[in-house]
Amino acid sequence: MADKPVVLVTRKLPEAIEERLRQDFEPLLNPDDRRYDADALIARCADAEAVLTCSTEAWPATQIERLPAAVRAIATFSVGADHIDLVAARARGITVTNTPDVLTEATADIAMLCLLGAARRAFEGEALVRVGPWTGWAPTQLMGLDLSGAVLGIVGMGRIGQAVARRARGFGLQIHYHNRQRLARQLEHGAVYHDRLGALLPECRFLSLHCPGSAATRHMIDARALALLPRGAVLVNTARGTLLDDEAVLAALRDGGLFAAGLDVYADEPDLHPGYRSQRNCFLLPHLGSATIETRNAMGFRCLDNIAAILAGHPAPDAL
Ligand code: 8YV
Repeated sequence: MADKPVVLVTRKLPEAIEERLRQDFEPLLNPDDRRYDADALIARCADAEAVLTCSTEAWPATQIERLPAAVRAIATFSVGADHIDLVAARARGITVTNTPDVLTEATADIAMLCLLGAARRAFEGEALVRVGPWTGWAPTQLMGLDLSGAVLGIVGMGRIGQAVARRARGFGLQIHYHNRQRLARQLEHGAVYHDRLGALLPECRFLSLHCPGSAATRHMIDARALALLPRGAVLVNTARGTLLDDEAVLAALRDGGLFAAGLDVYADEPDLHPGYRSQRNCFLLPHLGSATIETRNAMGFRCLDNIAAILAGHPAPDAL
């Protein structure tokens, strides 16, 4: 038995986090950032008391049931926990934690990048300069859409949705939103609440999604929802790929129902629907929402604080 508790770390993490892992725990690191399959992960957990996972590893009930009895904590290096069966974990006495708050601002920045990238045709502009042929400025070249004065609809007005609204106001956008519950008046800052998604959509030239992935939100943006948007709207998704019915979104991108889409997340990452790659009116990023040095460090430290608390028998700050 090791002196310090063994923590299985599924992916390569920033150096500052691995340094603290080595100080406080007996970490099983993944220096080559290999992608272990379900069986290999369980085998590596043999002596572990905690698992520090990312959203790239799935922990369904069948996998959680195979964990050794000594495992008491699963800390996910993400705010989303849709890759973990929380009910199965609870049944096994395992506490699951996530990393709220610390990635709010970074993710909201990426949402604005996706919004601007889609509205102002950044992919086409970049390609024109890099690959050409760019023959010079032209009055009708790559005309996009103004943000100023338009309505941005936000679906999911939690921490990240509110951070996007703050930024969007600076661009002159008017905010409408749909959320399970209406925000307190002082948190709305004039945003218009819609109690149904179907009531929000017709108002939106821009639509940005900020709700968790779950069975309830799967394919929330399908052909029916897209038909409710004004023609030529812009869709932004930095939440989870499962929120989109990709076939319906691609059909709308092809027929002009959507002017453009800005996407940072996809169903079945990294095997996104190939249709997106060939669509010029898509601004695509590889799930960069939280990818800043400061944010990734903060996420890692948050995971370690949670693991330390659980293994010491204290309540975890971010228990789900
Ligand atoms: C994570 C994310 O960095 O936190 C989340 O839910 O989507 C990302 O920002 C990524 O999922 C890695 O775990």
